[in-house]
Amino acid sequence: MDSTAQLHLEPAPADLHGTEGAALRAAGPVATVALPGGVVAKAVTTREAGALVLGDPRFSKDIRNWGAHARGEIPADWPLLFIVEGKGLLTTDGETHRRLRLPIQRAISPRRVQALRPRIEAIADRLLADLAAVPAEEETDLHKGFALPLPLDVICSLLGVPEEGTLRQELHELSAAAMNSEADVEEVQNTVGRRFPATLMSLIEQKRARGDRDDLTMDLVAALDEGELTEAEVIGNLVVTVIGGHETTANLICHAVKGLLTHPETLEAARAQEKAGENPWPAIVEEALRWESPSRNVMFRYATEDVDVDGAVIREGEAVLVPLPAIQRCPHAFPDPDPEVFAPDRPDVSRHLAFGFGPHRCPGASLARLEAEIALRRLFEDFPELALSSTPASRVPSLGINGYQQLPVLLR
Ligand code: HEM
Repeated sequence: MDSTAQLHLEPAPADLHGTEGAALRAAGPVATVALPGGVVAKAVTTREAGALVLGDPRFSKDIRNWGAHARGEIPADWPLLFIVEGKGLLTTDGETHRRLRLPIQRAISPRRVQALRPRIEAIADRLLADLAAVPAEEETDLHKGFALPLPLDVICSLLGVPEEGTLRQELHELSAAAMNSEADVEEVQNTVGRRFPATLMSLIEQKRARGDRDDLTMDLVAALDEGELTEAEVIGNLVVTVIGGHETTANLICHAVKGLLTHPETLEAARAQEKAGENPWPAIVEEALRWESPSRNVMFRYATEDVDVDGAVIREGEAVLVPLPAIQRCPHAFPDPDPEVFAPDRPDVSRHLAFGFGPHRCPGASLARLEAEIALRRLFEDFPELALSSTPASRVPSLGINGYQQLPVLLR
């Protein structure tokens, strides 16, 4: 099925930016790619084409518009099928999508996000105090010890997941399993198909029994009780929020740390700005989002008619993905300075698409930005001598996520 593909997208490419990014851009505005399992899709490779696919209603999120799926050509044991067939706001369009999105959008409105600041600072301080106990000169994993638990605790508090017990950790393990593109179909069926929904259903039952209110899970349950959402939609939305709410933010924090530690002059400039009473962190976070998009491929839109993209045609019924790392290092979109360089003062940084574009644009963007800013400011305050250790950071094997399994550092 993949005889027409120009290139294969591997879960863990040896060189995401160099080899894969350059090959995608060299293929023209629209590349034909094969995913693991031989399923073929289109990938758009320019910033403008990315915004078109994400924002134009001729590209649908509804799987019924995928020709190959409708014709029965997608193997039933294709591991990504569970994700793209999932019920929830990421697989719907129009009115249905707006209905599903509303409770989440309300829960993480900019006003509510600002109110979370003290809680996020307290979580950061607690984690940094634990890191301070690590013996000097000992290598430690910043992903495990800081970048991951911070957003995990924030999203779990928003969802009203109890602090005590192992449920928060379990939700992280299920998310990581769901994003692992090397998993075989049985593993995906077991995690995404069974354990994830069962764990969330049992969370809902516990919370109902305790009479919990005023958190995002119970907002969704209220919508279920009023007949506005189905049970499958509530679970689908919770899955997207749990995964989206922490995996990507953890990656953002790690990428920003790596950007600063591999560009010492940028870190020095940030310190000088802080001394002068300025706040350098928002620009650093924005550039980290561009330089190393925390999402790797924004997954499928299906063309509902033939669409011309810069002279290349995407045919009705084709599945399209948006490979953000390739797009965000495109020299045409980000010409100066060189897009390979981490440069928070670049003029056009806000053109990145790291939070998507159009109706599905990430509703968690302001929360993620706030978490990353607090995390970075506090981390570099407490550990001014932070350095990467000689053990390289290892990336997660995932078509959806661009992040690290570990980020080994020396704290002082
Ligand atoms: C750096 C952190 C984050 C990045 C890079 C990110 C990225 C994205 C992207 C690219 C999309 C669009 C997907 C598409 O168009 O198919 C998206 C959607 C979404 N994100 Fe985020 N996200 C982040 C943080 C968060 C947080 C903190 C939350 C929740 C608190 C969240 C919840 C969601 C949800 C619910 C959607 C689906 C929106 C819809 O379909 O209407 N994300 N995110």
